[in-house]
Amino acid sequence: MMHILKAQQFDREFLDEIFDKTLALKNQFDKFNYLMTNHKFQSIVPIMTTLFYEPSTRTRFSFEAAMIRLGGQVLSTENAEQFSSAAKGEILEDTIRVVSEYSDVIVLRHFEEGSAERAAKVSSVPIINAGDGAGQHPTQSLIDLYTIQQECGTIDGKTIALIGDLDHSRTIHSLAYMLTKYDVSHIYLVAPKAVQMKPELIQHLDKHNVSWSTSTRLKDVAADVDVFYQTRLQTERFKMSFELHQDYKQNAHRYKIDSSVLDLMKPEARILHPLPRLGEIAMEVDSDPRAAYFRQAQNGLYIRMALLLKVLNK
Ligand code: NCD
Repeated sequence: MMHILKAQQFDREFLDEIFDKTLALKNQFDKFNYLMTNHKFQSIVPIMTTLFYEPSTRTRFSFEAAMIRLGGQVLSTENAEQFSSAAKGEILEDTIRVVSEYSDVIVLRHFEEGSAERAAKVSSVPIINAGDGAGQHPTQSLIDLYTIQQECGTIDGKTIALIGDLDHSRTIHSLAYMLTKYDVSHIYLVAPKAVQMKPELIQHLDKHNVSWSTSTRLKDVAADVDVFYQTRLQTERFKMSFELHQDYKQNAHRYKIDSSVLDLMKPEARILHPLPRLGEIAMEVDSDPRAAYFRQAQNGLYIRMALLLKVLNK
């Protein structure tokens, strides 16, 4: 049984297999309804439960669309804290024990770091971590890597800027772990000092001999970057000190991508963002061909189809 819990669990062989499958699904998808013709689940229709204790737009909808496109069925709760027995005080482990008897795979989003690993310990079906607090979001980083590969041809050799809330952003954590599996040229960590990358992740980069440096001004590094990975400040995850709030308000322009940053960027560079964006990418950037974030969100559907086939052994 295969759980999807954290970025460190994957190797290059697995990633290549998923990305090849994703591309095949996407290509077939454009021509005809993939499943109706050659992959419709036979006999027992698999059921996926999406158990979400935190808000989501893309992650939940794309998982559900992926399962429906594959011919499976979906049980869903978008506000599990209020609309499941959690509201009565049930612990996560008990919920998972029961729900895993009703479905073939559980996609879990929870506000506590480590919740997916706790769930995996008691589940009788695969658990897919769709975000555990400020921990990880491994399926998002599969989308991110696949998008870089599709947009730039390769991940190896690229210079990548991770921008924004590097401390609390779970998509950043998973992506940073993932990038150590590739031979990237350099990683710029572009963030206010108060939300720089955690020491344990920096140590992980060092252990894998990844070249990195920090910066507090995107424009200082923009001309050298191939992939800009922008994130929002995760204000729901920490109590912002007065100093950081002031600093952020005064210095947000240092991290923002707008037309003045576009002017500095390489013509073949790409901008990614897991979304939702707040003010950190100006709307004027959307029409630039280097803006890849909506294509990235679209890739979420195909990656999740490939991943569901994998964990369901199809
Ligand atoms: C992210 C998340 O939930 O971690 N969104 C997503 O799943 N695409 C990013 C965020 O909330 O900032």
